[in-house]
Amino acid sequence: MIPFKRISLGFYPTPLVKLESLTKLLAGPEIYIKRDDLTGLALGGNKTRKLDYFLGDAVEKGCDVLITGGAQQSNHCRQTAAAAAQYGLQCHLVLGGHQPDEFNGNLLLDKLLGAHLHFCGNLRKGEKIPEIVDELRTIGKSPYVIPYGGSNSIGTLGFVSAVEELNLQMKHKSLHFSHIVFASSSGGTQAGLMVGKSLYGLDTEILGIGIDKDEIEGLPLETFVLKLANATALKLNLEMNFHKNDIYLNNNYLGEGYGIVGEAEKEAIDFLARSEGILLDPVYTAKAMAGLIDLIRKQQFYKKDKVLFWHTGGTPALFPYASKMS
Ligand SMILES: Cc1ncc(COP(=O)(O)O)c(C=O)c1O
Repeated sequence: MIPFKRISLGFYPTPLVKLESLTKLLAGPEIYIKRDDLTGLALGGNKTRKLDYFLGDAVEKGCDVLITGGAQQSNHCRQTAAAAAQYGLQCHLVLGGHQPDEFNGNLLLDKLLGAHLHFCGNLRKGEKIPEIVDELRTIGKSPYVIPYGGSNSIGTLGFVSAVEELNLQMKHKSLHFSHIVFASSSGGTQAGLMVGKSLYGLDTEILGIGIDKDEIEGLPLETFVLKLANATALKLNLEMNFHKNDIYLNNNYLGEGYGIVGEAEKEAIDFLARSEGILLDPVYTAKAMAGLIDLIRKQQFYKKDKVLFWHTGGTPALFPYASKMS
């Protein structure tokens, strides 16, 4: 149990299933999937777990607005808007890009969920949040700031809890995973899995696949994840100290960059859709799955390994990519 206030916004535990056809198709290790695309909060995703703790904190502090930022098709922003709607809070989203003529994918959902949208051009990592927070304060609002991607030591608790959930599922199913593979972007998912692995004593490699080459808060992602894992351990009063050797972040699958769908991402989406009836998203999970497929082809796993692919959601972003997918 994590000793911080949490409001459960999702449906947990998320399903854990074996990908029988994909395992056969790739003829490598056994592949399983953790379906965080089914957390349920306005089409789900990994950020619901972080929001469980943010909402707990925001409600405890009596805040009346949630404010966060991200790319125009941010899944994190869409789930934040849904959490705010559910708890009667105002939501301000500080988004990259310019207001489009037509709203689609996550952006359409943000609007349906009643969020106030601020378009900030090239700034897609919430850089303008402090400015808007000041404006909200001057009109008497009490905003709760959720950082880019929900990656601070509060949001990260969501993925420490996720490891507790996974650990119970593994025990019930008598399963042990040699590796967990997932998309890593703002770092909270990876930091939470690292802390959770130590806390619950898992003998499992945590393999993040980088999907964005840009720095976060002025640091390379690897350095940021280490800092965040240590800050989260400190928050939990755990005697843990993570070093460079404790992190595995593979940046070989960045492709043409954040949000750009290349052949490898398309292949990953096709594979999962056609062999398993599971939809990946074009920005995060397709890159991570493309990485996993390539690592299997390069025989980076033993056949006896059991690899868990953590599906972190994002499928609403498929629709605005329609023209790029064909
Ligand atoms: C679908 C999806 N997968 C993975 C991630 C990465 O998670 P994190 O930002 O915690 O690294 C995100 C972040 O926005 C996401 O939306």
